[in-house]
Amino acid sequence: MPEGNAFAGLRLPAIAAPMFLVSGPELVVASARSGIVGAMPAANARTGDDLDRWCRTIRETLAGDCPGSWSINLVANRRNPRVEHDLGVIRRHEVPLVVTALGSPAAVIEAVHSYGGLVFADVISIEQARKAATWGVDGLVLICAGAGGHTGQLSPFAFVPEVRSFWDGYIVAGGGIATGAGIRGALALGADLAYLGTRFIAAAESMASDNYRAMLVEAGGADIICTDAFTGIPNNMLRPSIVRAGIDPDNIPPACRSTLNFEDPHSGAKAWRDIWSAGHGVGAITAVEPVEAIVASLEREFRGGDAFPAPVEWRRTA
Ligand SMILES: Cc1cc2nc3c(=O)[nH]c(=O)nc-3n(C[C@H](O)[C@H](O)[C@H](O)COP(=O)(O)O)c2cc1C
Repeated sequence: MPEGNAFAGLRLPAIAAPMFLVSGPELVVASARSGIVGAMPAANARTGDDLDRWCRTIRETLAGDCPGSWSINLVANRRNPRVEHDLGVIRRHEVPLVVTALGSPAAVIEAVHSYGGLVFADVISIEQARKAATWGVDGLVLICAGAGGHTGQLSPFAFVPEVRSFWDGYIVAGGGIATGAGIRGALALGADLAYLGTRFIAAAESMASDNYRAMLVEAGGADIICTDAFTGIPNNMLRPSIVRAGIDPDNIPPACRSTLNFEDPHSGAKAWRDIWSAGHGVGAITAVEPVEAIVASLEREFRGGDAFPAPVEWRRTA
């Protein structure tokens, strides 16, 4: 763990991960107030001005004594036409943590470090992690197998320790973590923080539709299919949502593909609006609850509550 851990004061070492069309200011504020880090993608604000308004609301609402923190996720390359504008917004509101995706975040690092913020880069492979380790970021977010959204394919049991062997900065582990025991496991592997997306989709404060929430409560791991058929990149999706859209999940026609359009990310959003994503940890969702209740049960499990009993003593029989 880096010296002077900036996250040591959190109630739980966890980030409510940024999710397209799901995370907005309400989820971010509720997460920070519950003592974790709340995050949202800049692209969830339809316009740059909307992002400015959202960030102002979050900053002003959380001003003063807040046990948690907040973060914006930014697509850092030139294919994102709003990158400069959104970076100006980030600087103006001094967003404490920026998580970048796709490409070298040199300009982001300069801007965010100028006011004392932190920059983490998200990566899905050892090669990407090695490259990002040379960029001057403060942390790496390792997207492992089983993640909601565009997933990685590496097991966290291998990915986290291997990156820890060459990287002294912060490590965040994500992918299928949906319980307090999972957060403990991530720390045991060498991570400093866990990245939980799916567990927060059905939070009362998310922007997910009621049908999406209801499906998450019903679903288990067997309902997740990993497919590149909709976005061109491997993505964990809820099979029942594909069926509900009138498509056979085992025979998805090529016409369903809608690649992300960076001119207007929302225009390519059909695959996210009508066909829903969730990670392998979906079975941990049993109710639609406020963020505070989710964090309270994660904390109970993390500290050794009912879902993670104290280890039973065992002996070798010679
Ligand atoms: C519905 C949904 C939308 C997502 N959208 C984004 C996004 O816009 N940007 C991003 O960096 N990650 C996105 N993710 C990935 C999450 O930030 C995070 O990496 C992932 O949810 C962690 O795995 P878990 O869902 O198993 O907890 C999304 C995930 C989900 C479930």
